[in-house]
Amino acid sequence: MRKKIVAGNWKMNKTFSEAEDLLFDIADILKENRPSGVEVLVCPPAIYLELAADIAQENEFSCGAQNLSEHESGAYTGEISASMIASTGAKYVIIGHSERRTYFNEKDTLLAVKISQALKHDLIPVYCCGEVLAEREANSHFEIVGEQIKKALFHLTPDEFAKIVVAYEPVWAIGTGRTASPAQAQEMHAFIRKVLAEKFGVEAANDTSILYGGSCNAANARELFANEDVDGGLIGGASLKAEDFIKIASSF
Ligand code: 13P
Repeated sequence: MRKKIVAGNWKMNKTFSEAEDLLFDIADILKENRPSGVEVLVCPPAIYLELAADIAQENEFSCGAQNLSEHESGAYTGEISASMIASTGAKYVIIGHSERRTYFNEKDTLLAVKISQALKHDLIPVYCCGEVLAEREANSHFEIVGEQIKKALFHLTPDEFAKIVVAYEPVWAIGTGRTASPAQAQEMHAFIRKVLAEKFGVEAANDTSILYGGSCNAANARELFANEDVDGGLIGGASLKAEDFIKIASSF
């Protein structure tokens, strides 16, 4: 179902007590000033998921993981399975973040398996796609993102696809302070929706939440979220401060 979502990807940040403080700060701000019609989603490191899921549930926000194993269970030292994530009370999982693609060599074929694994355990995948700078400069960004969408999502049944959230994160905008312009974001989001419509139909594509990520902050969120096809954001650095994060969630 298409809805407005603002998600915080904490990446590999925060000790336990810092994570606890940030979660309670988010909860406190939401108690005073809850943005209406927006789902607030927090994706901390996996070790804090149970804590986050409990606080999230009590305070009407959501919680998700940043990654999951493609395997069901077994001898995969250090990995975390979909069923483990689901058992903490987390509802979402980020899949295919560019940092996973770059530093952990995750390819679209693997990501397709991870998507299915998440769905099997009733986790909502937030599937990340996006081009690197050289691809945009070579004007191949539509082709690259189109392929990322096709290879990781086109094996899904219509019922499975209906649960997917997509996040467009141009890699050149992540952590760089260089945001995509509202026009660049809208253009790519509309393109992603068109690609999805070709496979799953216009109605299903129009029902999909497509988030923007990449140097999105409290100062630029409003003009990004004002676009027809931008349904919210996947926020990195600016999600590490509760006030900034909720300000972004209030930018519709
Ligand atoms: P920044 O908001 O720090 O650019 O990170 C975006 C991101 O990668 C969210 O997943």
